Amino acid sequence: MGFSERMKETSQKKKSRVVVGLDLKVGDYKELVGKVVGVLDSVQDEVCAVKVNFHLLLPLSFFELKGIIDRAHNYGLQVIADMKLNDISSTNLAATKILWDSGFDAVIANPFVGFEEGLGPCIDDAHDKGKGVILLTYMSHKGAIEGYGLDVLCSGRVWKMYDLFVQRALEWKADGVVVGATSPQMISYVKQKAKSIPIFSPGSIAQGGDPKEAVKAGADYLIVARGIVESDDPCAAARRLKDITW
Ligand code: XMP
Repeated sequence: MGFSERMKETSQKKKSRVVVGLDLKVGDYKELVGKVVGVLDSVQDEVCAVKVNFHLLLPLSFFELKGIIDRAHNYGLQVIADMKLNDISSTNLAATKILWDSGFDAVIANPFVGFEEGLGPCIDDAHDKGKGVILLTYMSHKGAIEGYGLDVLCSGRVWKMYDLFVQRALEWKADGVVVGATSPQMISYVKQKAKSIPIFSPGSIAQGGDPKEAVKAGADYLIVARGIVESDDPCAAARRLKDITW
């Protein structure tokens, strides 16, 4: 089963569209693994996947990360690495080899880098291994328009950058696209164009996006970090999000 089918199955089983971002900030790095495990254990029944960003990718070792990923898998959750991968293919492949060896199910990548000697070999290799590559399409922060909203000349016509990225997601057989929950109109637009490619939507709560509006507009999964992990009660915060968006 490929990554997007596993996501769908887990989401239906858990009755949740919520992907928790384990963006924990600590004063003492020795406390990090314990805190991450505490949050994971408390929210595991309310979410369908876990997203790991530089908050953990940088300070933790391969084996510490593998321990967290194995724990998430034991709870039946998918695990996504948020690296916004954006390099030449030999480096992308070195990075994804480590991600796949440690058990990650998918990686977020930046389509700006292109296919040939960019993301192409990495996507083919991921699919051979049942892993997924999710492509940025329109980010959640205010400055997204400065890059994703640019007009670009490609194949003899002017495109919006986000249109080009949706086209790439279709042509490259991406396993998901990222569109910010802060732009429900953009979610609706991408939903029509991206057809069956699932939409992962970050930006609810801390960045001001409304999770219900994002889902109404067509988001399949909601990525939420601070709104859960920085809440006084992460489990209750995740459950509330799950309940209002399922
Ligand atoms: P918050 O705390 O705002 O964190 O819920 C969201 C998480 O998702 C990341 N993020 C994004 N990742 N495309 C991505 O691939 C985006 O548009 C985007 N916006 C936020 C953010 O770094 C954090 O881990």
